[in-house]
Amino acid sequence: MKKLFSLIMIVALLAVFVPVVSAAPPAQGQEYIIATGDWLSKLAEKYLGNVMAYPAIVDATNKKHAEDSSFAEITNPDLIEPGWKIWVPSAEEAAAFMGAPAIKVAVIGKSVHPYWANVEKGVQDAGAALGVQADFFVPTAEDVAAQVSTMEGYIAQGYDGIAVAPSDPKAMEATIKAGMDAGIPVITLDTDAPESVRLAYVGTSNKAAGVVAGQEMAALLPDGGSVAFGTGSLTALNSLERMEGFREGMGDKITVIEPVNNDKEDSATALELANATLVANPDLAGAFGVYAYNGPAWAKALKEQGKVGEVKIVCFDATDEHIEFLKEGVIDVLVAQREYFQGYKSVELLTLMAQKGIEAGMAEYGVPDDKIVDTGVDVVTLDGLADYDANLTSLGIPHTWTP
Ligand code: BGC
Repeated sequence: MKKLFSLIMIVALLAVFVPVVSAAPPAQGQEYIIATGDWLSKLAEKYLGNVMAYPAIVDATNKKHAEDSSFAEITNPDLIEPGWKIWVPSAEEAAAFMGAPAIKVAVIGKSVHPYWANVEKGVQDAGAALGVQADFFVPTAEDVAAQVSTMEGYIAQGYDGIAVAPSDPKAMEATIKAGMDAGIPVITLDTDAPESVRLAYVGTSNKAAGVVAGQEMAALLPDGGSVAFGTGSLTALNSLERMEGFREGMGDKITVIEPVNNDKEDSATALELANATLVANPDLAGAFGVYAYNGPAWAKALKEQGKVGEVKIVCFDATDEHIEFLKEGVIDVLVAQREYFQGYKSVELLTLMAQKGIEAGMAEYGVPDDKIVDTGVDVVTLDGLADYDANLTSLGIPHTWTP
């Protein structure tokens, strides 16, 4: 009796499981009940012959669900439950679904900061406007290894285009080449790697903008004096070019305090270094903020030490914090980048290259022969704040502050 019961059980179990376990690739698609240990990618490999085709199962199941709620709704392909009823499309249907190539591009920035949040906004807005997947990554602070490994990941995942702001152009050269060798167009943004095989650079002309900053400081200090620099990198080209440009523009009455402060894109360190510099140099006449958080770091240090007005500040960028310090009269001049455009234009250019091919895409975008897409800067003082606001609005650059 016991044996007979066992036999019945085995037959019953086979009746339930055999069709699933031994199912041949369906000709027209079929129902499937999720079993313990199933992954959509495993099912995609088994039934569709393509481990990457699992989004086709998700899409087909969700379409069934819309008509028949006994089918599961899959909102996260990594979270499926045993017992769920799903729909596996035919291999042909899946291929057709996967064949409509969704373009996906990625942008890699340098550090977590409102400056990079503006870049990210540009990336997202362009992705939405163009109907492409546009992903964005930044390390917390200067981190060349994180940039390299993230980019290697994007290359392995077969992105259609990558834009990177190399914190160390030399260290990034091999990875840029690996992307290009894999057939992925690679460009730089914000800071360039001109010795690499990157196709173009989208960003500020940093040397020229640095010259402007130096000239502005010279105008603020007609009798000259000593000026301290605060930067976040001694490898990134944008930092080096800005400082070189500043020295060119500042004339011969100004001397620079050496060595310059390097906080490695850590704003807390930037503030500590700014405070220490003010203490060590009681006659300091000016401070140059090379990166976005450097101007505010100088401003906070001046306030903490009661030196507002005694030390002039010229700095890059114009986030909300910069504008506040400008309005308060703590910061004198901003050299404002158009970082929103850096993100937006990078996605536009990469998308065109993915759609039309590298040469045709670059030509259609109007990339100049020198491969530099200059996004421009604005020199902003308190007097010019209303004009700057109007200019941003006319350019379509989102901002929330008011003059
Ligand atoms: C620079 C970026 C840097 C950022 C830091 C900007 O001025 O262009 O390279 O990462 O400041 O917030």
